[in-house]
Amino acid sequence: MGKVVVFTLAVAALSLLLGERVMNLRKRALASRELVKKHLPNCVFLKDLENGSNDITILDDGIAFISTGRKVPGLPTSDAPGKIFYLDLQDPDLNPEEMRISGNFDLESFNPHGISLYMDPTDNKIYLFVINHPQQNSQVEVFIYDEGNISLLHVKTIKHELLHSLNDIVAVGVDSFYATNDHYFTQDTIMAYVEPFLDQPWCNVVFYSPGEVKVASEGYYIANGINISPDRKHIYVVDILDHKVHVLERQHDNSLASVKAVDVGSLCDNAEVDLESGDLWLGCHPNGWKAFIFDPQDPPGSEVIRIQNIHSDQPVVTQVYMDDGSVIIGSSVATVYGEKLLIGTVFHKALYCDLR
Ligand SMILES: *[C@@H]1O[C@H](CO)[C@@H](O)[C@H](O)[C@H]1NC(C)=O
Ligand SMILES: *[C@@H]1O[C@H](CO)[C@@H](O)[C@H](O)[C@H]1NC(C)=O
Repeated sequence: MGKVVVFTLAVAALSLLLGERVMNLRKRALASRELVKKHLPNCVFLKDLENGSNDITILDDGIAFISTGRKVPGLPTSDAPGKIFYLDLQDPDLNPEEMRISGNFDLESFNPHGISLYMDPTDNKIYLFVINHPQQNSQVEVFIYDEGNISLLHVKTIKHELLHSLNDIVAVGVDSFYATNDHYFTQDTIMAYVEPFLDQPWCNVVFYSPGEVKVASEGYYIANGINISPDRKHIYVVDILDHKVHVLERQHDNSLASVKAVDVGSLCDNAEVDLESGDLWLGCHPNGWKAFIFDPQDPPGSEVIRIQNIHSDQPVVTQVYMDDGSVIIGSSVATVYGEKLLIGTVFHKALYCDLR
């Protein structure tokens, strides 16, 4: 064969392969899913939360912690530094307040992502763990919550080579946690332009403690949200690209044993657990392709999914809310306190809905 023919065949083979890869990714991203609205009757926007509310977690006394202002390349995110907000769900005024942060901490580069709360049973001190991406790096910040002042005292920064692409975290001690890595490669260009097309389950969950750091579970396309059951025996990991919530059992050696995976039919981001019922609440991207190729004229929508009886033979997966992006764009978290539902987004507004 002449060189030209070989070259032409190679180009044809490559474009076929690339075409197939794009089709595959579109399928995983549910690109052709039509978004049929399912609104709730009693919802209002939360004040002052216009730059995202990527992750939200609620204490058992109704105090919600909200991470805002995350910067995501390719999305119209704010250039203001990230912040942690506080919202008292027992107060009918629903007034989110920025939390003051003290200690040796660079506020300007704060770029918060997933968060988790841990109460130390020995002295009832409350620790807030935050995934932070200053200059798109990946590290964990640990704060102590000062109730009297509604403020956070920065205690330490944790970095480790296994904690390379952190997304979300669940604390299991004052200095130990499980965290998800949402990428396998660490080089920016490969991460952004090559990895999505490879379609490989190469992401993992890492266990961290001062004495031991290790991969606790692996085999995820994109390991995203992570949380814990109320009895603290199980860990839930959301694989956003595989549309599944994985149920894992904590082992004595801190590894995680796979129990099962529950299909959710959407690209779910963070998972929150109702401390009373054990139900999982998921903020999801119903058509992930729209988030991937973001077009402000045709923005991605928002979906909230609830899973009841996840440990039974028949978990019940229910769609609670769906919007086509005309109300809120890109929901990343949903969580309840009694009959109060909060829905947060990657970079847009936050919604409060009264479920009564
Ligand atoms: C939101 O972002 C805008 C623009 O980047 C900024 O001016 C504003 O202060 C931010 N709000 C908060 C609460 O961070
Ligand atoms: C509130 O913060 C101030 C200054 O950082 C500190 O002196 C004071 O003790 C704090 N109050 C409480 C109740 O922790």
